[in-house]
Amino acid sequence: MTVQTVHFSRGIPPLEAIPSTAIAEHTSAVLAAEPDRVFQYAPIGRHTGDQELREQLGKFHSVDPDRVFVTNGSLQALDLLAAHLLRDAVEPQVLVEAPTYDRAVQIFERHGAQVSGVPLRHDGVDLNVLRERLRTKVPAFVYVIPDFQNPSGVTTSEDKRRELVRLSAEYGFTILEDIPYRELRFSGTAPTRLGELAESTDGAHVLTIGSLSKVLSPGLRVGYVIGPPGTPHALAALAESTYLSPAPLLQVVAARALANGLIRENTEHVRRLLRPRHDAAVEAVRQTLGDVHLCVPEGGYYISVHLPIRTDEESFLAAARKDGLALTRGSAFYPADSAPPSGTVFLRLPFQALDGEEFAEGVRRLAAAAERAA
Ligand SMILES: Cc1ncc(COP(=O)(O)O)c(C=O)c1O
Repeated sequence: MTVQTVHFSRGIPPLEAIPSTAIAEHTSAVLAAEPDRVFQYAPIGRHTGDQELREQLGKFHSVDPDRVFVTNGSLQALDLLAAHLLRDAVEPQVLVEAPTYDRAVQIFERHGAQVSGVPLRHDGVDLNVLRERLRTKVPAFVYVIPDFQNPSGVTTSEDKRRELVRLSAEYGFTILEDIPYRELRFSGTAPTRLGELAESTDGAHVLTIGSLSKVLSPGLRVGYVIGPPGTPHALAALAESTYLSPAPLLQVVAARALANGLIRENTEHVRRLLRPRHDAAVEAVRQTLGDVHLCVPEGGYYISVHLPIRTDEESFLAAARKDGLALTRGSAFYPADSAPPSGTVFLRLPFQALDGEEFAEGVRRLAAAAERAA
């Protein structure tokens, strides 16, 4: 009998979370109504994105549209912000949660940063370690994913958010908050966005990075930055010297999807779709693996574990692969100076694309592999 592989690998939306037919209809309507607008270059001269989209995003986040800059997906926002914030820094240091989103670390390093990890707890970064680091060196910026973090599923608590923002003011560093999963909360209440907290904290500096990839479609490649008006202008100068602007058509489609409620409706649909998958995943991990998960996520795509093993990660992953498990290498989510607790492997277990039975089967295989490797 051939064993079907269970994929605990990529964190991409399942097809049933993307409202393709509705997006196609909007796109046809936009093409018919505004061909001149979407087939021409966007205006040049510090262009910060399609005006209608910036207004809609401003409304969505209750901020002035002048504070919004549109990018080709939030990865490009990370790249431009790294270029902007690290440009004049000498031996710049960037602090990140450990574990964190691996692509972000690669981007920061490409721009010359020395990336250092601050251990992540069930409710956000370890503030004692962070304070110690700040006393030694003030980083160019601190990068956090405060809502349903990729890869761990951790949400930073309200108290830790307030302290992070206070520390930003005290030490004078910028916080980048990356929030692609924020809207995908299945239970509990959302803590305040760091950018919002910064508005009432003198001297604090927070830049928010958002994305429509998980609430509408990753294929439209719509991401954005919210910051003080100077930031969109600085980023526009960088954009103008490379790609001019994101594709006008995709921005107008996104603007319409915000304006006519498609994004709101689809976000509710995704929450209804993913909540049972989340609940089944939490249950399966608890029952089969015990108390090894970093947190109960309450939203997003990921639950994660520190799984005790006695072999090395490489051999464990190879053995798991033979047992029909596709896993992402957990150590890749740690910056070079950090690692999971000794004697454990870190595993990100995305639940967004698996039904309860598939997830439970994957976790049973994981338990068997861990037992052999224990
Ligand atoms: C934390 C985080 N930031 C950024 C991205 C990239 O998103 P986008 O599709 O907007 O480039 C992802 C994608 O998985 C992510 O998890």
